[in-house]
Amino acid sequence: MSDKPNPAAQPRSIVILTGAGISAESGVPTFRGPDGLWEGHRVEDVATPEAFARDPDLVQSFYDARRAALGGVKPNAAHQALGRLDAAFDGDLLIVTQNVDDLHERGGARRLLHMHGELLRASCTVCGVRQPAPAVLREGAACESCEAGGTLRPDIVWFGEMPHGMGHIEAALADADLFVSIGTSGAVYPAAGFVRTAAAYGARTLELNLEPSEGTALFDEARHGPATRLVPAWADEILGCNSPPGRAPNPD
Ligand code: OAD
Repeated sequence: MSDKPNPAAQPRSIVILTGAGISAESGVPTFRGPDGLWEGHRVEDVATPEAFARDPDLVQSFYDARRAALGGVKPNAAHQALGRLDAAFDGDLLIVTQNVDDLHERGGARRLLHMHGELLRASCTVCGVRQPAPAVLREGAACESCEAGGTLRPDIVWFGEMPHGMGHIEAALADADLFVSIGTSGAVYPAAGFVRTAAAYGARTLELNLEPSEGTALFDEARHGPATRLVPAWADEILGCNSPPGRAPNPD
């Protein structure tokens, strides 16, 4: 294990992990609300391969409704701040999101990896090819690249399935000198373990969350409050640090 970077030093490689909390102020419900239900369903009834095998209509309808709801929400100041950071930060950056909405993209993020999949994509139940999702999957959409006549399922990583991009994420965590976790409860692995991995490789770790997460004690620093307040302020700090000498962002 190496020494922690000096907190005042300019980071050159940042990994950001986001969860449902960053989209909450856009009106997208988080998973672990007070009633423990996700849009009225138990997670295991809509987010497992077994649920899909048992009742494909229920699962397809559930994600069709989530996909349709994207049209009614907009990126908030936290998504936009990460988009700004992505455009202006000249070091290495990877934004890993557990969210399946498209609000990071609409907020301008480009160096982005959807580890739990995307509502706007589908995958073939036979050949596995990932492709843009039609608006409605319940009717049994056909795969565009499959000669075996496969049909499409949501490109969502369900419980018991392997998240996307783990090799890429682990390499970025090993190289990071700053790891920032935003709006996630720290309840679901492997994402909940990223803070330990980053720290083991010597990164400084920062939590930005409405309240202390399950893993809050693992972070070097935790700031608590709404993402729309915390994230723009933190992005400004980084971009201030990252400005070339003599070009401080706040000349006043
Ligand atoms: P959770 O619902 O578990 O946690 C959301 C976190 O966001 C909580 O810690 C809240 O305190 C925090 N939060 C809520 N509003 C916030 C705000 N305005 N600003 C900042 N923080 C806020 O969601 P995730 O941690 O993303 O997986 O859940 C992880 C995974 O569990 C999801 O990706 C999903 C789910 O099952 C799959 O579907 C595979």
